[in-house]
Amino acid sequence: MSSEDQVHATRIEQRLRSAADAMIDLAAPQENYKKLIEDGGFFDTGQGFAMSYDRANTEFVLRNQPLFSSRVTMNLGNVRPMIPLNVDPPNHSKYRKLLDPLFAPRVMDAQEEDITQRANGFIDAFIDRGECNFTEEFAELFPASIFLGLCGLPEAEMRSFLDMRDYILHPAKKVPGAGEDLSKRQVSLDKGAELIYGYFTDLIAKREAEPADDLISRFLAAEVGGDRLSHEDILDIMFLFVIAGLDTVSDSLTCFFAFLAQHPDHRRQIVEDPAVIPAAVEELLRWESPVPGGVPRVATEDVLLPGGQLVKEGTAVRVSYGAADIDEATFGDPFEVRFDRETNPHIAFGAGVHRCLGSHLARRELRIVLREWHRRIPEYRLKPGHEQLEYPQGLRHVKDLMLSWS
Ligand code: HEM
Repeated sequence: MSSEDQVHATRIEQRLRSAADAMIDLAAPQENYKKLIEDGGFFDTGQGFAMSYDRANTEFVLRNQPLFSSRVTMNLGNVRPMIPLNVDPPNHSKYRKLLDPLFAPRVMDAQEEDITQRANGFIDAFIDRGECNFTEEFAELFPASIFLGLCGLPEAEMRSFLDMRDYILHPAKKVPGAGEDLSKRQVSLDKGAELIYGYFTDLIAKREAEPADDLISRFLAAEVGGDRLSHEDILDIMFLFVIAGLDTVSDSLTCFFAFLAQHPDHRRQIVEDPAVIPAAVEELLRWESPVPGGVPRVATEDVLLPGGQLVKEGTAVRVSYGAADIDEATFGDPFEVRFDRETNPHIAFGAGVHRCLGSHLARRELRIVLREWHRRIPEYRLKPGHEQLEYPQGLRHVKDLMLSWS
């Protein structure tokens, strides 16, 4: 992608974000989504960007890859496209063929014990206190710890992972003023990118010299039809993993536990019958849709959507997974949060060729946390005095979710 394209894409992304954010109450977005679907489900600004809310249009955009390209950049400090998110087929399929087997459900079976131990380790640290800042003491640390395990790295490396994540995804935490000032934000993004490229360049060299039973060694050894991943490929994959695999799980956990702390009947179903947990995870993913929207897709020609709207060539369309997940056309009773749905075709992990590579890992993490937490802390609530929850901009998450139990 040329730098001109990148600037264009960044501008589009920023405008899409501000337009979308202005309309949605992140604490309880479902009513907003419903209204947007009732109002036509598609919003074209006429200035090169549009948003899709209804399920049929959204699926069409996501599943018709030749018509909608994801070769855009979000300007996160990366110097090349992130793999595989910003790669279109046929190259995209080459990468997924290499990557999918490394994240298959049976591979995740082997992680069960490690993930369980790590979840319990964090709970051990605060269980006797009778309260915790769930966001800071559990949700933000747990997925990073799982990644350390996958990369064969010790817990002492946690700070490096959190720094890489925060410089890119939470610039205001790292660089004063980066929340409002674009040039300060860029300083933070560049620093994050420098850390990611430096850290993983070193790790790749180490694993190449001495292979281990870990993710980078598997990337180095992976081969499909004579194709192997270059070092740059691995860096571009790891860049995406740092931003796609950490906050998404943290954010889901804060949304899930905020819901369960406020809905004792749902919480009791999990405590009394842990077999309901896989269904509960799917339903909470649907209802909360922690990743509310996707990477914009740019129309490669004029396209007529199933809803009848014409998308002009070059228009960037951002889909809302959250809205698609409460669309009555797919779910007869979308506003009921039910752990006994027979089928749950939510698209919280996306749809089409770019559907989440880490969904089996994410599900495993979420199921294990729900199981271990409710086994050890069955009764909990929002800590008195902290009932007002804050859902900041960005992916849906609760800042400083304070839980207490006796
Ligand atoms: C609950 C947690 C998660 C949610 C809700 C989630 C959601 C998503 C969504 C919606 C997409 C599609 C983006 C698009 O098409 O624009 C996606 C893609 C992706 N996710 Fe996840 N994700 C989660 C966890 C993870 C984890 C743990 C990993 C770590 C490996 C991961 C890696 C990826 C990758 C690599 C892609 C790009 C796939 C491609 O382009 O082919 N995700 N995710």
